[in-house]
Amino acid sequence: MRASGFNTQISAYSKNRPPKFHEIELLKIIKGSSDKTFSKVLDIGCAAGSFISLMSKEYPSCSYTGFDISSKLIEEAKIRLNSINANMYIADALTFEPEKKYDLIIASGVLSIFEDLKPLELWTKWLEEYGRIYIFGRFNSKDIDTIVRFRNHHQNQVKDSEWQGGLTSFSIKYVTEYLSDIGFKSKFIPFIYPEKLPITDDPVRTYSVETIDNKKLILNGANIIAEQYFLIINKK
Ligand SMILES: C[S@@+](CC[C@H](N)C(=O)[O-])C[C@H]1O[C@@H](n2cnc3c(N)ncnc32)[C@H](O)[C@@H]1O
Repeated sequence: MRASGFNTQISAYSKNRPPKFHEIELLKIIKGSSDKTFSKVLDIGCAAGSFISLMSKEYPSCSYTGFDISSKLIEEAKIRLNSINANMYIADALTFEPEKKYDLIIASGVLSIFEDLKPLELWTKWLEEYGRIYIFGRFNSKDIDTIVRFRNHHQNQVKDSEWQGGLTSFSIKYVTEYLSDIGFKSKFIPFIYPEKLPITDDPVRTYSVETIDNKKLILNGANIIAEQYFLIINKK
């Protein structure tokens, strides 16, 4: 498994920003799910706590745990979430030691940092018997897995030697079979941006391009097209 801290492109996540489109959509999916009985929620790679903040408005009586490898983001999250029932930790998604099992685990934008699915298998062990994992990120509808390394020279963000990950895309086929082999069902829901995503100065940030049939291609400065999905996982 790839070592931690493999992606340090955190500038997009460190502001006390309004919820992103994928967070609003994820909350809708959770609200629409048949399982209304969850109370213990874990957000893996929670950044500055934006999703926990959003979800806690809808589900104020849940207890929330969030962790992120970035101490800066967790400091911001603690300030943002100080009035809700949330425990926030600086921790690594590969070595975090949960104090309890969770009914609902969120990992948004995190799986693409890794180069195999062992983290996902580990996270299933943190789940209560009837719990669900909600993943958001890049997946490929074609039967190809890709690993991408990049260096972002925008405003000298990295030294020459620091190759970054975070754009891994596993195929839906591989993920489905992997999860099935370890006793879990998976459901993929494509994510379509409701609005145009503008291009920004930082070339690592995602943007959209309209096609002639009014669909949107999701790109970033690596010039690789991304397909984004929500993946819902629960025990068979
Ligand atoms: C693409 S951002 C997604 C943030 C947020 N979950 C969202 O959906 O907007 C990835 C986050 O994962 C964190 N991260 C990177 N490697 C990690 C690791 N090994 N363990 C825990 N968090 C990690 C980063 O610091 C960053 O906050």
